Amino acid sequence: MAKRKTPEELRSHRWYGVNDLRSFGHRSRTAQMGFSREEYAGKPVIAILNTWSEMNPCHTHFKQRVEEVKRGIWQAGGFPIELPVQTLSEPFQKPTTMLYRNFLAMEAEETLRSYPADGVVLMGGCDKTTPALLMGAISMDLPAIYLPAGPMLRGNWNGVTLGSGSDTWKYWDDLRASRITEEDWRGVEGGIARSPGHCMTMGTASTMTSAAEALGFTLPGFASIPAADSRHAQMSAKTGMRIVEMVWEDLKPSDILTAGSVDNAVTTCLALSGSTNAIVHMIAVARRAGIELTLDRYDDIARRTPVLANIRPTGAYLMEDFFYAGGLPAMLRELGDLIDGSQKTVNGQTIGENIADAKVFNEDVIRSRAAPLLPGNGLAVLRGNIAPDGAVIKPGAADPKLLVHTGRAVVFRDYNDMAARIDDAALDIDENSVIVLQHAGPVGAPGMPEWGQLPIPAKLLQKGVRDMVRISDARMSGTSYGACVLHVAPESFIGGPFALVQTGDLIELDVPRRKLNVLVPDDELARRKAAWVQPAPRFERGYGAMHQVHVLQADKGCDFDFLQRVSAKRDGDPEIH
Ligand code: FES
Repeated sequence: MAKRKTPEELRSHRWYGVNDLRSFGHRSRTAQMGFSREEYAGKPVIAILNTWSEMNPCHTHFKQRVEEVKRGIWQAGGFPIELPVQTLSEPFQKPTTMLYRNFLAMEAEETLRSYPADGVVLMGGCDKTTPALLMGAISMDLPAIYLPAGPMLRGNWNGVTLGSGSDTWKYWDDLRASRITEEDWRGVEGGIARSPGHCMTMGTASTMTSAAEALGFTLPGFASIPAADSRHAQMSAKTGMRIVEMVWEDLKPSDILTAGSVDNAVTTCLALSGSTNAIVHMIAVARRAGIELTLDRYDDIARRTPVLANIRPTGAYLMEDFFYAGGLPAMLRELGDLIDGSQKTVNGQTIGENIADAKVFNEDVIRSRAAPLLPGNGLAVLRGNIAPDGAVIKPGAADPKLLVHTGRAVVFRDYNDMAARIDDAALDIDENSVIVLQHAGPVGAPGMPEWGQLPIPAKLLQKGVRDMVRISDARMSGTSYGACVLHVAPESFIGGPFALVQTGDLIELDVPRRKLNVLVPDDELARRKAAWVQPAPRFERGYGAMHQVHVLQADKGCDFDFLQRVSAKRDGDPEIH
């Protein structure tokens, strides 16, 4: 039997268990909060990092769920401490939650480091909260378990099933093309988000919570359970119970994360036809553990991985249907030898053991490898003279006839330029043009917002055009769709060659050959480069100033350079006085 920790070996023992002046202060102040020694002495202190706030609709139920987590911790003999951390609310936070992902990752890590935590429950779900909490917990390397918020119920309006994000874009285009009324639009507004939980399409939230499960950070099956389902509450209590045992077993992220578990998570994202955002986040998560995940590795896995989840925007169903069809364990089992079953997970078993008995209950929602939704290439990594460090496209979300396309560039220098001119009737653009948005990357926008589904000009929408080739150094919401080339690196704002593209240039996109080039001679590009002027920095002070100096490019995960693990050495705790 593996060695278990003793109470004296707990990290919190240094706060509570010794007999000195400082520990007197810790105990007397704990008494001030209403706890007697008998309630916590010798027990694992479990930090619960809760991203609940009144500004985050996806986490509304966390106020209740945290009580269920605490119930589980008490029952298993632990001492729960709820620590609120910033919420990263996708619909409300400007200019983009991505600007603050690393902020939450730092907050999570430093909160754990500076307080008497022996283990941690990470409560997240809305897009960036999952990677941020994982990144911080991986860097701190205390026993950690993830509690995914769970998807909201299917949207509903006038008998039509609505999906988060995807149907917002669809009905917005319909409104702009006068195919629906203002009253219809208000009906969609009222019915598209009708329960707690994160977006229920295969957006970034569903992708990243599933990735967390495939990495081994959740109890089996948890990521697929709708937030409103009573099994979500039950699983929350079980999560609280389990983390206490993980502390005694000293089961840490460094025991779970390997190149194999990272490959499992990438395979999962691709089989789900998940959000392109997951590429950036998975690279950042892996690098926190000292595992080098490259865009080329991502592309290799994409070529061999079929899309099995028939979920919008690539497919037809929603996360609620996916759960009823068997959820993530059923899909992982269906992936067979594409998943490395030997990888360890938080429940102490391997992922192979966890999914051994999983079953598919609806073969249209979770397809078999013999009849996939797409045979492979759920994602493609492109390179060329405007993206030497890579760019990405989700071929399954694009009109197939645009995957090999040459067109005349129509360039917008930044978002405001695009917003001002895109619907101008005099804009010289047709359906064969290539829309280009610059200055939308990690430094330039700042924070690489989800602007990558560039709008189709209203005059073309009215002609019935539904997709065009669009290129930017931005990201795109996982609920978006279209022939959108994203994450161009290096970005234009810092002088990447994408900055040199001008209106009228021909751009060649060839997804099967993984190519993205501007058809301009090298000497002309060199001339433009010599004339290029670096824009003024976005920030003079504060977090933004730190971000613009230290953020890495998309192909490196957009983490801060000083937060990535550069060696196997752990940071350890500061001396406690
Ligand atoms: Fe929170 Fe989509 S808005 S997950």
